[in-house]
Amino acid sequence: MEVTDIKKVGVAGCGIMGGGIAEVAAAANYDVIVMEAGQALLDNGIEAIDASLTLSVRRGKLDENGRKAVMGRIRGTLDLKDFADCNLVIEAATENLELKKRLFRELDKTCKSDAILATNTSCLSIIDMAAVTQRPQKVLGLHFFNPVPAMKLLEIVKTIATDDETLRVARAFGESLGKAVVIAPDIPGFIVNRLLMPFFLEAIRLVESGQATREDIDRAVMLGLNHPMGPLKLADFVGLDTACFIAEAMYDEMKDDRFAPPVLLKKMVAAGRYGRKSKKGFYDYG
Ligand code: CAA
Repeated sequence: MEVTDIKKVGVAGCGIMGGGIAEVAAAANYDVIVMEAGQALLDNGIEAIDASLTLSVRRGKLDENGRKAVMGRIRGTLDLKDFADCNLVIEAATENLELKKRLFRELDKTCKSDAILATNTSCLSIIDMAAVTQRPQKVLGLHFFNPVPAMKLLEIVKTIATDDETLRVARAFGESLGKAVVIAPDIPGFIVNRLLMPFFLEAIRLVESGQATREDIDRAVMLGLNHPMGPLKLADFVGLDTACFIAEAMYDEMKDDRFAPPVLLKKMVAAGRYGRKSKKGFYDYG
């Protein structure tokens, strides 16, 4: 299989990440079919893609005909069977290993035997998903970053079973989307979250211990390290529930205290302070 054989891309899940992936794939001229678990979720997801493209028009990156053409290449479905003729499927569902394994089992039954099955998981074990299929050599991670259209990186996660052809085609696919590719190991957090999570958690521990203010921590990192956002602002952007989930999943697998979520983070999540999406996290977004 070559990247030129990829005509139709399936995206399972149309949340922030699935929608972003569908958008960049359609913008790169692939036919895209995106699936959600219910009509309201699907409608919201497709509306969000359109809103993001409309923003690109406003920013002068796309014209109105371009927006219509990209939207015209995206179709929504509630039925996984519509992925039957996809050459590549990217799963971007909720971070729940049992749910993902169920999806991979169904995708394996539904999709052509030469189709590549990928997951956008940010921390879960990809070999565990590959192992429920009859094609573990064709399963890998395609880990995109939020906001997908703006972030240049694609982490391609190779499991111990992924074969060289799958890796080569996935790399060419990522590059066809205009992404820079790195090959990451199938270990908890891959490369980026392996580094990002201790960074987030240490920043939260500094706030928790009262040793530095959130504003000073973020300002220090922005101005001292040239990051576009400080760690607390970025944690709010990623979602504190998501960050806590990733940290817990990494801690469960490695039993390494560096990844143990601080009590403050767990309490904020329990209180519904998820960051930007709930309008309250380390900062207020009201
Ligand atoms: N869609 C498309 N393009 C977007 C965009 C969006 N939602 N948001 C911003 N952009 C583009 C803009 O068009 C602009 O592009 P140009 O420079 O080519 O004109 C550029 O990004 C900068 O945008 P703005 O000036 O409007 O805004 P900004 O400078 O405040 O940048 C940001 C916004 C890109 C989000 C920036 O703050 C940033 O890079 N933050 C860090 C984001 C990050 O680290 N994401 C990774 C999170 S970790 C993750 O996703 C993985 C995980 O597993 C947890």
